Amino acid sequence: MTRLLFVCLGNICRSPAAEGVARAMAEARGLSVEIDSAGTGGWHAGEAPDPRMREAALRRGYDLSSLRARQVRRADFADFDHVLAMDEDNLAALQRARPADARAELSLMLSHAPHLPEREVPDPYYGGPQGFDHVLDLLEAAVAGLLDRVEAQGR
Ligand code: 4NP
Repeated sequence: MTRLLFVCLGNICRSPAAEGVARAMAEARGLSVEIDSAGTGGWHAGEAPDPRMREAALRRGYDLSSLRARQVRRADFADFDHVLAMDEDNLAALQRARPADARAELSLMLSHAPHLPEREVPDPYYGGPQGFDHVLDLLEAAVAGLLDRVEAQGR
């Protein structure tokens, strides 16, 4: 079974949304994958996703209410096949933390949606409400591409 970990900074906006989108899209495809999310920072550990993101996600049918934030840990690099970073800062932090013998493959989330002009999923935390919908648009495109790849590889 393929194991996917989505990573942002706080694990309360972008990566829990990615987790919710990926759970729904994998189930719709009948794909057996294990999915989690985490933050490179630990300030919000134990918290539910941001209410603005929960609302925007729920409007599209993704229920994030049971998710709780946690920080990335060393074992993640052994436990997951793919670790998806929302932006370049997150990717750099993961590359610094990645043990030499790690199995996890690190990539930028939007590298799985190469048709999009964007390269990073922007942090919506300090912006307006439309930022959360934009994040969800980007995540739906990237998760679709990522699951295509998982299906093609059979892992
Ligand atoms: P996230 O958004 O990385 O998408 O969860 C953020 C949430 C909180 C903070 C930064 C980013 N913060 O600095 O508190």
